[in-house]
Amino acid sequence: MKTLTLRRPDDWHLHLRDGAILQGVIGDTSRHFARAIIMPNLVPPVVTTTDARAYRDRIIAALPNGDRFEPLMTLYLTEHTDPDDVEEGKKSGLITAVKLYPAGATTNSHGGVRDLDKAMPVLERMAKIGLPLCVHGEVTTPDVDIFDREAVFIETVLDPLRKRLPELKITMEHVTTADGIDYIKSSKGNLAGSITTHHLIINRNAILVGGIRPHYYCLPVAKRENHRLALRAAAISGDARFFLGTDSAPHVDPLKECACGCAGIYTSVNTMSCLAHVFEEENALDKLEAFTSLNGPVWYGLKPNEETITLEKRDEPANFPPKRETGAGPITVFDPMFPLHWQVVEK
Ligand code: DOR
Ligand code: ZN
Repeated sequence: MKTLTLRRPDDWHLHLRDGAILQGVIGDTSRHFARAIIMPNLVPPVVTTTDARAYRDRIIAALPNGDRFEPLMTLYLTEHTDPDDVEEGKKSGLITAVKLYPAGATTNSHGGVRDLDKAMPVLERMAKIGLPLCVHGEVTTPDVDIFDREAVFIETVLDPLRKRLPELKITMEHVTTADGIDYIKSSKGNLAGSITTHHLIINRNAILVGGIRPHYYCLPVAKRENHRLALRAAAISGDARFFLGTDSAPHVDPLKECACGCAGIYTSVNTMSCLAHVFEEENALDKLEAFTSLNGPVWYGLKPNEETITLEKRDEPANFPPKRETGAGPITVFDPMFPLHWQVVEK
C-alpha cells in the first residue's frame, strides 16, 4: 500500500460560520488541519478586534473534545475600520489578516468596501505594521462579465493598490484564472495566492452541463479548462507563493438548491483525499506538502506544524458521507466526480 506522510496541513481560507453550522462543521477541519484563517463574513460581520475575540472563543468552544486547532482570526474591512483597533488586534496576537470584500462581490459582502480610498488609512497602517491583506479579487461592476471579474480586478484595483502601497503584503485568495497566476508569478514580492481544492478539480462545465448543479457554484466562479490547468501547474510547482486555502463554504442545502442559490462549496470533509488524488495525477505527490503545509506558514510568518498526518492509498475508495448533517440542516459535501482512494489515517 502506498502511504504519504506530511507535516500537518493548514487551511489558509476557511468559512466556519456560527451557531449550529459552526458546531456541525468544525470537526471536519480540526480532524486534519492544525490551523486555518477564518473568514469574517458572518451576519453581522467580524469588524472589530472585540468581535474577533468573541468569535474565536465560540470556535474554540465548538471544537470536538481533544482536537487541537488554532483559528487564525481576520477582520472584515469596512470604510470605517479603525486603524488603531486593527493595530491593537495584531499586537495582541489575535489578528492574522484583514479581509477585503469589494461590496457586493459575494456572500455577506454588502458591508464591504465600495471606495478603496476610504480604506487607505487602515491599509497604510497595515503596511506599516506588517499585517497582510487578504483579498477577494473580483470587481462587482455590472458591466463586467462574471467570468472576467478577476482579471479586471487585477488590472483596475490590485495593481494600482500595489503600486500605491508596495509595502502592503497581499494574499490574492482563491485564484481562479491563468491571469491571476501569471500576475502573482510576475510580481516582485509582497504578493502570494491561495488556491482552493475544488478549482483544481472542476471547470465551469461542472456547473452548467447537463443541468444546473448548484453544489459546484461558488465565487469566484470556476472558469474554463485552460484556467484550471494553470492553477494545477502553480499548485504542483512548489513555488512558495502558492498554497492551499480551501474556501470551504458551508450553506445548508435549501439555500443552495433554490431559484437563487448561495455561492459556496463544502470541501473540508475530503480535501486532503482530493488533493492527494490531484497531485498523484500530476506526478507531483512530492510537492503536496509544500502546498498544504509549508508555503502558507512561511508567507504568514509562522512555523510549519511539527505534527504529521499520514495518507494511505487504499484499494477500496473512501466512503465519505454525501452530506454533513448539522443542527441547521444538511450540507452537501463536494463530490469530485472520481473515486477517492487516498485517505487520511485517522488516529
Ligand atoms: O463561494 C463563495 N462562498 N465565495 C465567497 O467568496 C464567499 C463564500 C461564502 O461565504 O459562502
Ligand atoms: Zn471565501
